[in-house]
Amino acid sequence: MTDLSSFINALPKAELHLHLEGSLEPEMMMDLAKRNDIDLPYKNVEEIRQAYAFTNLQDFLDIYYKGMSVLQTEEDFYDLTLAYLEKVSREGVVHAEVFYDPQGHTGRGIPFSVVTNGILRALDDGRENYGVSSELIMSFLRHLSEEEAFATLREAEPWFDGRIIGVGLDSSELGHPPSKFQRVFAAAREMDLLLVAHAGEEGPSAYVREAVELLKIDRLDHGNRTLEDIELTETLARSGITFTVCPLSNLKLCGVPDMKEHPLRRMMDAGLKVTVNSDDPAYFGGYMTANFLSVAQALDLSKQDIAQLCRNSIVGSFLTEGEKAVHIATIDQVLLQPWDC
Ligand code: ADE
Ligand code: ZN
Repeated sequence: MTDLSSFINALPKAELHLHLEGSLEPEMMMDLAKRNDIDLPYKNVEEIRQAYAFTNLQDFLDIYYKGMSVLQTEEDFYDLTLAYLEKVSREGVVHAEVFYDPQGHTGRGIPFSVVTNGILRALDDGRENYGVSSELIMSFLRHLSEEEAFATLREAEPWFDGRIIGVGLDSSELGHPPSKFQRVFAAAREMDLLLVAHAGEEGPSAYVREAVELLKIDRLDHGNRTLEDIELTETLARSGITFTVCPLSNLKLCGVPDMKEHPLRRMMDAGLKVTVNSDDPAYFGGYMTANFLSVAQALDLSKQDIAQLCRNSIVGSFLTEGEKAVHIATIDQVLLQPWDC
């Protein structure tokens, strides 16, 4: 472990952009396929890893939706979620606001309650066993219809008593602008849910504008292409909205040709509140520390920069002000220690 990774691990941070299904490691995929008697198009974990050569978001999504077919029982969702929390607890993640794709499961006959209750039980145990606090956000698949999103919103209502705290929007971005879900998000807002949405990952800055202005989101997922619109960039810098950026994801999905060309530094310099996250770590080659290391080395980020990204993650989370203050104070303490990096 390099000194830089020790420094990164020592800093408390929140993960704000993580798809639980994207934390399904090839080993667990094989184990669950066996446990549930599911046929996979791969013979072993090496073949699975070899299949992870993506040229764009859709390439990845096609494989991601196939991979999740091994998740069948409440126990499977529990195991998946707890394994993620166990891993990131060793990387200084003190809080995780995780996404899941219920429609990716209900659409193949797995009841909403099976998926959701398995995840929630693991989030409770993760808090207890590993000290990682968490919240659950349900994402709508944007390649499906508005009507299907509304049906999912209705089905989820019993969990809106504080167990599912918000809704998000993910899957194939191009051709599925945020405006398609304006009425769904308005209904979710009426139910006092928090709102997030993927925009500007592959889609244009106009999608970011729609997500902010039409969906009235509380936090933006990705948002890399915001920089193409100077006026929008200035507005979002002033508003202080948090951007959940995912460096290794952007590299693996060819949003950037090289990490040295990642826009994260330019986003920070433009005054945007940027955070670092892992998106689908089992598919993109690393969890939080790997994402921080990769982007810090490529863009020559200072310790202050890295600490600021961690502060942003705490501030941009849905923790209470009191909880945020505790973590921010720890970040300041860590920075005061003598680091050899
Ligand atoms: N679902 C899982 N990962 C995603 C990503 N990076 N973009 C859109 N949808 C996703
Ligand atoms: Zn994502």
